[in-house]
Amino acid sequence: MSTLFSIESVTAAYETKVVLRDVTMAIEEKDFIGIIGPNGGGKTTLLKVILGLLKPVSGRVDYSPGDLKLNEIGYMPQVAQGDTLFPVTVEDVVLSGMMHSMGATGRMGRREKKHASEVMEELGLMALAHQALNELSGGQLQRVYLARAVSGSPRLLLLDEPATFVDTSFEADFYDKLKLLNNRMTIMMVSHDAGTISAWVKSFACVNGTIFYHPHSKITDEDLRLYGCPIQLVTHGDVPHVVLHKHN
Ligand SMILES: Nc1ncnc2c1ncn2[C@@H]1O[C@H](COP(=O)(O)OP(=O)(O)OP(=O)(O)O)[C@@H](O)[C@H]1O
Ligand SMILES: [Mg+2]
Repeated sequence: MSTLFSIESVTAAYETKVVLRDVTMAIEEKDFIGIIGPNGGGKTTLLKVILGLLKPVSGRVDYSPGDLKLNEIGYMPQVAQGDTLFPVTVEDVVLSGMMHSMGATGRMGRREKKHASEVMEELGLMALAHQALNELSGGQLQRVYLARAVSGSPRLLLLDEPATFVDTSFEADFYDKLKLLNNRMTIMMVSHDAGTISAWVKSFACVNGTIFYHPHSKITDEDLRLYGCPIQLVTHGDVPHVVLHKHN
């Protein structure tokens, strides 16, 4: 494996309030990292630092190991219900994820539309392409935002609690899609459900003021205690959670 980018001694703050202190981590190509930790622990802040939206007080993110560019990062922000007053369609939103890759004219051509269709097809959104955003369920909306984050063909995909509104019956399907995407991009995904995602991620990062990297997907309450990560696994034992795959 080779390093895609690294976080070096990053301390991040809002005004005078320090939220992340001395965070250091190398992110490997094609890793699928579950980012867990308590509310207010700094998970979203970490993603903002990686995206270059929040400048660290000290330290830096080094994108040079894998020659990663900021426009090669796809980002799906934390979604709150009722975020969707725009009268835009699903297709519009997916296309908006490709803005940075368009030419100076900024026009959406046939090529962009074809690519948007492929992404919608892959994520099971074709039937909703011309539906308005405010007519979607929370889970459908999260799939649309995922499609937008993916449509720019990123090398790094940052997901902030992407499945909060995804019903348990669609959950396995949703994570299956992420697993497919992981074949071609590195993924960092914030989640509050360490038990469920352990069946899908390759590793964990516990964020609580600082970061602990856990290089495999089996994580125990004991690990969490060592990392100072006060969250509780939903289920216990060697295999923390059993995920039932969908039968055809
Ligand atoms: N724009 C901001 N201005 C000031 N303080 C902020 C801002 N954004 C976040 N914070 C504070 O920084 C801390 C970390 O917030 P952050 O959003 O990174 O946590 P989180 O781990 O993502 O939490 P959650 O699980 O609730 O999403 C919190 O105490 C929060 O109140
Ligand atoms: Mg957050």
